[in-house]
Amino acid sequence: MPDTYFSDYLLKTDERALHKFEHYMPIYDNLMLPWKNQPTTFLEIGVFKGGSMRMWRDYFAPGSKVSFLDIDPACKALELPDTQVFIGDQADTALLAQIALERGPFDIVVDDGGHQSHQQTGSFQALWRQIKNGGLYIVEDVHTSYWPGFGGGYRNPQSFMEYSKHLLDEMHSWYSEDQKQFPLSSKAWEIGSVTFHDSMIIFKKQAKAEWPTAIVSENGRVQRNRHYSQVRDKRSIFQSQPGTASHTKT
Ligand SMILES: C[S@@+](CC[C@H](N)C(=O)[O-])C[C@H]1O[C@@H](n2cnc3c(N)ncnc32)[C@H](O)[C@@H]1O
Repeated sequence: MPDTYFSDYLLKTDERALHKFEHYMPIYDNLMLPWKNQPTTFLEIGVFKGGSMRMWRDYFAPGSKVSFLDIDPACKALELPDTQVFIGDQADTALLAQIALERGPFDIVVDDGGHQSHQQTGSFQALWRQIKNGGLYIVEDVHTSYWPGFGGGYRNPQSFMEYSKHLLDEMHSWYSEDQKQFPLSSKAWEIGSVTFHDSMIIFKKQAKAEWPTAIVSENGRVQRNRHYSQVRDKRSIFQSQPGTASHTKT
């Protein structure tokens, strides 16, 4: 039986309005399962009417550290038992560091705050290091990356969507042949996956102990090599040679 806690929650809300895209709910149903009823450190940026607060709190084990941040001082009054609401600007990196000190490091951060690209980027840069190994950093409503009023616009290099594409590059920086323009990034060691849904990007932190290793397995004999990631400052091993079959570089 698939878990439908988040999808079902829509019919269990009270006078505190919950404000999210409907299609996020089945995504959360699957994504959050490892933390269901588990002791969890969680932070959501953006409270609004407080409709998501009980949803998150009741999903995790009692005693979990469930925290929220909003720029609107009125949100402090929405605090529920076993939750903590911080008031301030998500662009205030000193505040984010203080919250992380008190309530982190985090299993999960959800950014549902101001949705300006510079806020999404700044908060990611401040909080990524506060995500535990195996944890998630989720940014909701990234369609604002296509809106100039939110610091976006199609392929605007300042948008969070374009920043996320750079993070994809960094995740693959093992394979760079160009040390100057595209050096190995610490993100290659840290980002396990980046998942793009409509309007939502999910970064999973997964510390890697080794460089990516290719295997050739034949008759039960496994050989390992790192050819693919040892092209740094060399010509690609897949560069076509005259008279040979072409393995096209991408
Ligand atoms: C979309 S609502 C949050 C909805 C809520 N998470 C929910 O699921 O129902 C966005 C909230 O972000 C807050 N916000 C806007 N700019 C912010 C900023 N710079 N820092 C922190 N919060 C901000 C707004 O006050 C608003 O309450």
